[in-house]
Amino acid sequence: MNTITKAYSPEAVKEAGGILKAGGLVAFPTETVYGLGADALDEAAAAKIYAAKGRPSDNPLIVHIADIESLYEIVTEVPDKAKKLADAMWPGPLTMIFHKKDIVPYGTTGGLDSVAVRMPDNKAALDIIRAGGGFIAAPSANTSGRPSPTSAAHVAEDLAGTIDMIVDDGEVEIGIESTIVDFTEEIPMILRPGRISLREISAVIGEVRMDPGILSKPAEGTRPKAPGMRYRHYAPKAELVIVAGDNDKVVGYINDKVATLRGEGKKSAVLSTDENKEAYRSDIVRTVGKRSDYREVARNLYKVLREFDEDGADMIYSECFEEDEAGYAIMNRLLKAAGYKIIRL
Ligand code: TXA
Ligand code: MG
Repeated sequence: MNTITKAYSPEAVKEAGGILKAGGLVAFPTETVYGLGADALDEAAAAKIYAAKGRPSDNPLIVHIADIESLYEIVTEVPDKAKKLADAMWPGPLTMIFHKKDIVPYGTTGGLDSVAVRMPDNKAALDIIRAGGGFIAAPSANTSGRPSPTSAAHVAEDLAGTIDMIVDDGEVEIGIESTIVDFTEEIPMILRPGRISLREISAVIGEVRMDPGILSKPAEGTRPKAPGMRYRHYAPKAELVIVAGDNDKVVGYINDKVATLRGEGKKSAVLSTDENKEAYRSDIVRTVGKRSDYREVARNLYKVLREFDEDGADMIYSECFEEDEAGYAIMNRLLKAAGYKIIRL
């Protein structure tokens, strides 16, 4: 298949809308990561998403909408708290899960009776959703298991030749996927952390819980509730280990390891912050930005993980970030990329 790539423009939106209405696949930017869109109410179109990404068929898709009225067309009930949260946060990096109406095919929800819904805060995305009929299923536009795409070039790397169109509107704002809140539970539960924190959600709706299955390494017997959070994800090809502790000790430890590996004829790489990048003696040092700016770190994380794949390193060492309000979502992604391998000095 020949994949058309076009910069965001009224003509590109029109073309994307036509492809989506005809059951095709269009990748488009959102404020979090690029999404791979298909008509969410067309089971055959949704099936093409799974094939293009190599995504397990039990991993449900998020339905993207462009106005609040659309929500009521696809879910059986909107709890008051969810309505309040939508008013406060939509459009924005928040996905909410509800009981689905029959109009939403099981092919979109991975066989579940619930459906995840999000209204993205990105003009290109909203235009394309409207042009495509108003209900666009869109997972991240990467091959399953690779880091989510934060630019159109990342989408092309993974999916050129297998999808109909890519709409390019530059690099995304946020860089990690939306916060997911499940409203099918008595007490709303966060299934995936993102830019919008538990504290911000709780300030609007009161009590909210974090899925115990996503708190650092899933313990034996606990399973993350969002099917997608169970798969190995975001992972670079080389082994990745996070090193935590006092800054000087971390730099010293990593430099020792780099020297040892070099002695064995092996290539190592370091995921660094700007503050430390001159201190490492590794051949490959890639920075995710300033340690003092976690928004910048989130924005650069997936791009840097992708770049490591091109470096052909045998081993990657990463600095650690605080699991505080701003760093929680970053550490969630980084720990998954590392297969939860972390050395505490
Ligand atoms: O920021 C985002 O949310 C991006 C952009 C494109 O909007 N989309 C995204 O989609 O990250 P995806 O498919 O990569 O991740 C969706 C996650 C998966 O972990 C999936 O298992 C979970 O949402 N999910 C979707 N529907 C669900 C449901 N009904 N119940 C539980 N988890 C659900
Ligand atoms: Mg994804």
